[in-house]
Amino acid sequence: MEQNIENRFLWFKGEVVPCNHANIHVLAPTAQFGLNVFEGIPCYWNKDERQLYAFRLNAHYDRLMRSAKLLQIECPFSRNDLQQALFDAVRANQYQEDLSVRQTLFVDGFGSWASEGPTDLFVAPIPRRKTSAEYNKKGLHCCVASWQRISEHDVSPRIKCGANYINSRLGQREAIRNGYDTCIFLNGEGKVSEGPGSCFFMVKQGTLVTPKLTDSVLESITRDTIITLAKKMGIPVQERSIDRTELYLCDEAFLCGSAMELTPILSVDKYNIAKRENGAGEITSVLHKAYLDAARGGEKEWVTAVYL
Ligand SMILES: Cc1ncc(COP(=O)(O)O)c(C=O)c1O
Repeated sequence: MEQNIENRFLWFKGEVVPCNHANIHVLAPTAQFGLNVFEGIPCYWNKDERQLYAFRLNAHYDRLMRSAKLLQIECPFSRNDLQQALFDAVRANQYQEDLSVRQTLFVDGFGSWASEGPTDLFVAPIPRRKTSAEYNKKGLHCCVASWQRISEHDVSPRIKCGANYINSRLGQREAIRNGYDTCIFLNGEGKVSEGPGSCFFMVKQGTLVTPKLTDSVLESITRDTIITLAKKMGIPVQERSIDRTELYLCDEAFLCGSAMELTPILSVDKYNIAKRENGAGEITSVLHKAYLDAARGGEKEWVTAVYL
C-alpha cells in the first residue's frame, strides 16, 4: 500500500511517531550548522523469503560511531539501541518494499556549533520506489567538478555528517547547471576522489581500479562490498591514486553507493567511456548483479532480517 509521507511513521527521540510530529527546533545546532552524523541504510525486500533485509548494518553503525567520535558528538545509544530503533521504525510502517533508512544522530538544544550535546536520534525509513537503473536511465554523463573534494586539511570526508554535503552540493549543482548528470571531484593533489554521494571505480584492461581511502573519499560500505565481491569473482582489484586523464581513457567506469547502488558512467567531460554495451560495461554489469543479489539476502553474513 502506498503511503502519503504524512502517514508514515518514524522513530524520533525514543518514540515511533507520525512523520509530521517529528520536529526539531530552528535554533538546534543540527538545523543551524548541520551538526549531525548519519547513515543511509539500504533495506531490500526479498519476495521469495517474504523478508526485509538490512544490508551491512554493523558496518553502518561502526561508521556512525566513528563519525560521532571525530566530531565529538556524544552518542548515548548502544549498537542494540540503534538496531532496535530501526526495527521499530520499519515495523511500524509494515514496509514490504526496498527502503533507504536514514538514521541520524543530531545535536539538539540551543547550543552552538561547538556543543557536544544534547544529542538525539531519528530513524526515517524512506521507500526507494525505483531501482537505480530506472532512476539513472542507462548511465551518467559526468564532468570533473571545478570544486575540490574536502580533505583532511579542512573537513575530513571520512566523517559522514550533514555539513560535509555542502561540498557535494556545490559539485552536483555545478554539474546540473552545465548540463551533466553529476560530477567527479578531484582531491587536493589533483587525483580522482569520488562523486558527490558515491564512490568511483573504473575498469582498465580487466582490472578494477578505485582511489585509495586516503585519496579524500568516504569510507564507503558499497566500495568495500564491491571490492570484496570482485576479489571473490577473481577480478583483479587495485586501490591506487587515479589521474584525471585516466577518466577519459578507461574501459568502463561507474559510481556506487548505498543510495545509487552501481550506476555506469557513459562519459566524463564529454569523452565517451569506451566499452559499454547497453550502457554498462561487462564487469560493471556483473558486479551490479552480484551486489543486488548480495543485498537482497544472498550473502547471509551481510544482512539482518528486519521482520520476526
Ligand atoms: C561522498 C560520498 N561518497 C561515497 C558514498 C557511498 O558510501 P556508502 O557506500 O557507504 O553508501 C556516499 C554516500 O553515503 C557519499 O556521500
